[in-house]
Amino acid sequence: MDITSSKDGGILTIEFNRPEKKNAITAAMYAAMAEAIGDAEGDAAVRVILIAGKPEVFTAGNDLGDFLMNPPRDQDAPVFRFMRALSGAQKPVVAAVAGNAVGIGTTLLMHCDLVYAADNAKFALPFTQLGLCPEFSSSILLPRLAGYQRAAEKLLLGEAFHADEALAMGLVSKVLPVDQLFDHARAQAAKLAALPPSSIRLTKHLMKDHDVAAVNAKMLEEIRHFGAMLLAPEAKEAFSAFMEKRRPDFSKFS
Ligand code: COA
Repeated sequence: MDITSSKDGGILTIEFNRPEKKNAITAAMYAAMAEAIGDAEGDAAVRVILIAGKPEVFTAGNDLGDFLMNPPRDQDAPVFRFMRALSGAQKPVVAAVAGNAVGIGTTLLMHCDLVYAADNAKFALPFTQLGLCPEFSSSILLPRLAGYQRAAEKLLLGEAFHADEALAMGLVSKVLPVDQLFDHARAQAAKLAALPPSSIRLTKHLMKDHDVAAVNAKMLEEIRHFGAMLLAPEAKEAFSAFMEKRRPDFSKFS
């Protein structure tokens, strides 16, 4: 299974498990994660959600081939259902990131509560390099976290950055050696699970509530552009170049 999920000690752990494709995420994987979060939200035995990848890779982002075959067109798309479930989760979400976290692999962290990164973690938001635009409110969440200039560098150039920079930007809560990452994230999740759920839920709500309408509106605006741009020649050139293992050529576009 490309997504595994398990419940233990009040923690629902969702794990990317497609290492041969660097945990690139297909529509089926988004659907599985949306369902797991929905189930956790309704299960009183689950108090915390933990999202993790492998020690070598968190996720290479959207599966580029699947993206072309099943472009997300509207709010019913599995990627949208997953991100809506994550963004709207009342229960706290902890993320453990090691290795590459590309595209939505970095975007989704902006919707988590505690984000732990290994010292080998590498983040990237390469949307402009793919002829696309930011997604799932990263165009407002990243400037708020990091300040406009640091966010602009990451979103306009799309270049990868390391864990120490992600920490300085406020994108992650703490950086740890990779061999300590998963134990630490699980221990932090266990601490949350031991606290009164109503206090945790209300504290999260109070911190995020003022922003919900703006975040949701921006998600809709971005997905409209993103869906159209996926079908445009710039993205076709970028995706073909990736598949053909060559550099894209955007020189003919205005
Ligand atoms: N979609 C589909 N397949 C992907 C993928 C993706 N996003 N990312 C990696 N893969 C596949 C590769 O095609 C390759 O498959 P193959 O073995 O059948 O040729 C395999 O996973 C290994 O990837 P590779 O590129 O050889 O690994 P790497 O360690 O050299 O590089 C990355 C890792 C993540 C830096 C690189 O794979 C990458 O840049 N991926 C694309 C990221 C991206 O643009 N995501 C979309 C953001 S919207």
